[in-house]
Amino acid sequence: MKLIIDDADLNQIKSIYEYYPVDGVTTNPSILAKTGRPPYQVLEEIRTYLGSEAELHVQVVARDAVGMAEDAYRIVERLGRGTFVKIPAIPEGFKAMKQLCSEGIRVTATAVYTPMQAFLAGKCGADYTAPYINRIDNMGYNGVETAQRIHTVFRNNGLKTEVLAASFKNSQQILELCEFGIGAATAAPAVIEALVNNAAITGAVDAFTADFEKLVGIGKTMS
Ligand code: E4P
Repeated sequence: MKLIIDDADLNQIKSIYEYYPVDGVTTNPSILAKTGRPPYQVLEEIRTYLGSEAELHVQVVARDAVGMAEDAYRIVERLGRGTFVKIPAIPEGFKAMKQLCSEGIRVTATAVYTPMQAFLAGKCGADYTAPYINRIDNMGYNGVETAQRIHTVFRNNGLKTEVLAASFKNSQQILELCEFGIGAATAAPAVIEALVNNAAITGAVDAFTADFEKLVGIGKTMS
């Protein structure tokens, strides 16, 4: 399972990249709005930091298929053909997806709440489809189970589309999807850090340090 950072703050992205084995960055219009800066300036800085090969997912904002395709062409022109264009899984979005996928543009279907949306996006040729785990939970359904069902729909229908699960509130949800073998999960830096935020882990390492220092002295290491 790929692990992706859902953020547009370059300092946060850099600090996660420094410590964790991550595979790229996802953004959406709300995440970009939090930076308070011109969107392409922010995205070009992220692309430069990531290099041309890493996954960067950027969402269209137009509401109709023609406008979505124009947004997509501009995104790819500014940020490189390796960039995944996020398109909402709505009727105008499916129309845009069919066109863009046939032209070889990489597409991530977003705003996915149901397996039916995901199935249609898969048939349009989307590379990824992004179910919103936490938001589905908040509607009274089960986000993890929905993502698992979508994964099964893709595999049982011979579709190459992968699940890119999004909108997490805790690291347990990520682990459950990792166990299930879904393609990717994108999460905020705090949720990624929470994957190893466990008092038992730091307690064990602290105890090793204390025992060793009793043997050789405070601050001494194996070097
Ligand atoms: C990803 O595609 C979504 O834009 C994002 O993860 C939504 O997350 P949120 O529900 O925390 O806003």
